[in-house]
Amino acid sequence: MAVERTLSIIKPDATNRNLTGKINAKFEDAGLRIVAQKRIQLTKAQAGEFYAVHKERPFYDELCEFMASAPVVVQVLEGEGAIAKNRDVMGATNPADAAPGTIRADFAESVGENSVHGSDAPETAAAEIAYFFSGLELVG
Ligand code: CMP
Repeated sequence: MAVERTLSIIKPDATNRNLTGKINAKFEDAGLRIVAQKRIQLTKAQAGEFYAVHKERPFYDELCEFMASAPVVVQVLEGEGAIAKNRDVMGATNPADAAPGTIRADFAESVGENSVHGSDAPETAAAEIAYFFSGLELVG
């Protein structure tokens, strides 16, 4: 399987509850390597641009407000099949559906406040990584 990179975001509900270390332990235990990382405060406009694909969804405004409500940790995870592996470790979008031991099963509060985001495909991973990081910041 090919080595891939994927974008991961630790969301405000998790940074508020001091869960960044516990969440990243799950990624690292699964063999994913954090090759870039920063803690930032998004504006609502920046969150809106990142989630532009969801613009027409009824939860879009609430999602953008939430993502700008407290700091987030944006990071790039690398590993074999990293895009799917990250999604496996995160668990289903709605924590009620997430498998035991996944991040969302263990930590997420609701479908909206679900602790983590991960890219869903190679094209979106490339675009999402480029939204937050320059090539110089990906250090392996
Ligand atoms: P994420 O993987 O970051 O991608 C889009 C986000 O929209 C998703 O996680 C959820 O946090 C959020 N989302 C999806 N469905 C709903 C919903 N029904 N209500 C509120 N937020 C949602």
